[in-house]
Parts: sequence; C-alpha cells; structure tokens
Amino acid sequence: MELSNRVNAMGHSPIRRFNKYAIEAEANGKKVYHLNIGQPDVETPACFMEAVKDFDKKVVAYSESGGETVLQDAICRYFERYDIHYDRSEILVTNGGSEALNMVFTAVINPGEEAIIAEPFYTNYHTFITAAGGRVVPVTTKAEDGYDFAKRDLIEAAITPNTKCICCINPGNPTGRVLTIDDMKLIGEIAKEHDLWIIADEVYREFAYDDRKAVSFGMLDDLADRVIIVDSVSKRFSACGARVGCVASKNKELMDGLMKIAQGRLCCPTLDQIGAAALYNLDEAYYDEVKAEYESRRDVSYEELMKIPGVVCQKPGGAFYMMAKLPVDDVEKFLIFLLTEFEDNGETVMFAPAEGFYATEGLGNDEMRIAYVLNKDAMRRGVELIRLGLEAYNSK
Ligand SMILES: Cc1ncc(COP(=O)(O)O)c(C=O)c1O
Repeated sequence: MELSNRVNAMGHSPIRRFNKYAIEAEANGKKVYHLNIGQPDVETPACFMEAVKDFDKKVVAYSESGGETVLQDAICRYFERYDIHYDRSEILVTNGGSEALNMVFTAVINPGEEAIIAEPFYTNYHTFITAAGGRVVPVTTKAEDGYDFAKRDLIEAAITPNTKCICCINPGNPTGRVLTIDDMKLIGEIAKEHDLWIIADEVYREFAYDDRKAVSFGMLDDLADRVIIVDSVSKRFSACGARVGCVASKNKELMDGLMKIAQGRLCCPTLDQIGAAALYNLDEAYYDEVKAEYESRRDVSYEELMKIPGVVCQKPGGAFYMMAKLPVDDVEKFLIFLLTEFEDNGETVMFAPAEGFYATEGLGNDEMRIAYVLNKDAMRRGVELIRLGLEAYNSK
C-alpha cells in the first residue's frame, strides 16, 4: 500500500517537529523557553470563560455549519470598525484560521495550479496548498529589503498561466512585514489584471507597530469579489486552543462552494463559538493594550538579539515573530545542540529553524524564527540563552 503523492510531498512542521527534543529536555528537569511557536502567554480575556459558563442549554448540540449566528453577528460588528460591511452569509466560521486556509485552497485550486506567496511564509501554506494538489510559487524576499514583496516586477515574474491566487499574510508571519493600503492596491491591480484570487490572511491584523496602521483587504471595495479574508481568534485574543476562525468574502459562489465543505465537516465546537463571540465584542481598549504589550516585547527581543555578534535581523513592523540570521551554517544542528547538550542554570531555549518557511531549496539554513509571545523577562532570558548557546556551540 502506498500513501498519496500529495502527502508524500508535505514536510513536518519546523515549528513543531523538534518538540520531541524539548519534551526530553523537560523530562530531564531542564526549563525550555518556547520561542518556537506562536502561543502567547497573554491571558485570554475573561469574557470568553464567562460566556461559556453562562451557556444554559441542556444539550451541547451541533451548531450550524456556517457558524453560530451570535458569533457571525459579532464578527460582522467587529469588521464594521474597519468600515467593512459583511452580512452573516458572508462569514463562514471555521476551526481556526487553519481550517479556513485548508477549505479555501480546496475551493479555489485545481491539481497543478499555482499559489503565489512571498517567502519566507507561514509553513502550513505549503501543507494546505499541497493537500489541494496545488503548487507553491514563492516570491523570495530578503531582510535587507524589509521583506517587501509588493512590487509589480517581483509578483508578475511569478505569474504563469497556472496561477490561481496571490496569498498575502498581513502582518506577515514570519517576517513581520506590514502592507500599506498602497501596497494592497498594487497587489489588487495585479490580481485584477491577471484575474486572480487574493487570499488575505489577516489573523495578526491589529498587531501593526510604530506608525503602521491596521488595515484589511476588505477595505478595498473594487476587489470585493476576489478577496478572501482569513481571520482567527487565536492570536488577537490569545485563544489558540479555542480553534475558532472564519472566512469572510463577498463572493457568493465561493461562499456557496465553501459551505459544501463546511457541511461535510458538520460544524465547529459550539461552546468555543459562544466564547469567541464574546471576544469579537471586546472594545478598542483591549486592542490598544495587547498591541502595546507585543510592541514592547518586540523591542526587548530585538535589543537582546542585536547584542549577539554575527546576528542579522530586521526589526519587524507587525505580528509577533522575528527572523534572524545566526552565525552558524546549520541552524537545525544548533537547535538540537541547544535542546540536547546545552544548558545555563538548568535552562535552555527553542526556536523554529527557518528552512521550512521557504519553498526555494537551500534558503533559510542559517536563519531562525522566534516568536515574541512570552513576557519581557522571559524574552530577555530566552534570547540571552540563544547568545550563550551560540558561544558554547561555536567554541566546540
Ligand atoms: C499566518 C497564520 N495564519 C493562520 C494561522 C492559523 O492559526 P489558527 O488555526 O490557530 O487560527 C497561523 C498560526 O500560527 C498563522 O501564523
């Protein structure tokens, strides 16, 4: 018996596949700072638990395949703050942004068709596009250029007769790149000229720092029929385990197609949707507070990283990740060293090797991604452990 070519073409997640070493290190009594995964330590707002506690039905029944109406309505109200007007039929609730992406690629990609995405990119795009039988076509970006991919020549060079969509993670994971409205207009123009879908993954929407603005592709009315927004409560509300996200689109044919897939998987967890509705109802003060927290974590992490000789890093403008070149030739080997041989006062650290964030072979071998999702003291210590680990590794 054989597995499908599609699953054979996928790789394991670089964010999770080194966990076995961390589990062993922890079992041996070491403390591991997990900078490898976007799992924030920020408390989930209490309104989530309260809404779940207040659930007064006697049966936890299936919900509608498109989502609980109370949640769809809360999502519509949330988008109003960006002057984007959706109705319930334009919101499909999913099991996190992950299922939203999986469904969207299934709905728009035929076997052999191509999805354009700036690399480095969130690794699971490779998984979901490959699962749909498609092919990732990367637009390579570099720290030196601020990971900028909103350039006509770069994008057009990647377009072929098989291109079906342009994927924009904004703010970017792992680069922290934040698009401006003008960048989005340019991408929109190209998408219109070549009749492409725009898959706008905006799960980090509010996490845009310094003078950057939180924006959405949904704000561009002339793109309404081709924009597919992916959203999630995981990051914005620090509710990763709730597994609630959504697809938002004004394209009725797409929403009807997605509904077929949604009906096949029946529904999302009823109680998590009730909690998520309370999260989407939070007011502006919440966003200001978490954004300020992540911005200060970014500053601390960047400051500490810059103290490491040989590290090359671009200060990210959004989301909560940082890419950095390390003075080693094989970052994976260094990570395994950190988890298996190194310790400082019983502590060590874990990051995600960047190779899996690239589709182009050979790129990312000397880069890592860290997630600045822990409090400032923990970030300081985590990055210090990378520095001490590098000293120990390079003097071996
Ligand atoms: C860019 C991006 N999109 C989607 C997701 C999926 O998140 P979730 O399924 O938890 O909503 C993630 C998670 O890290 C992400 O970084």
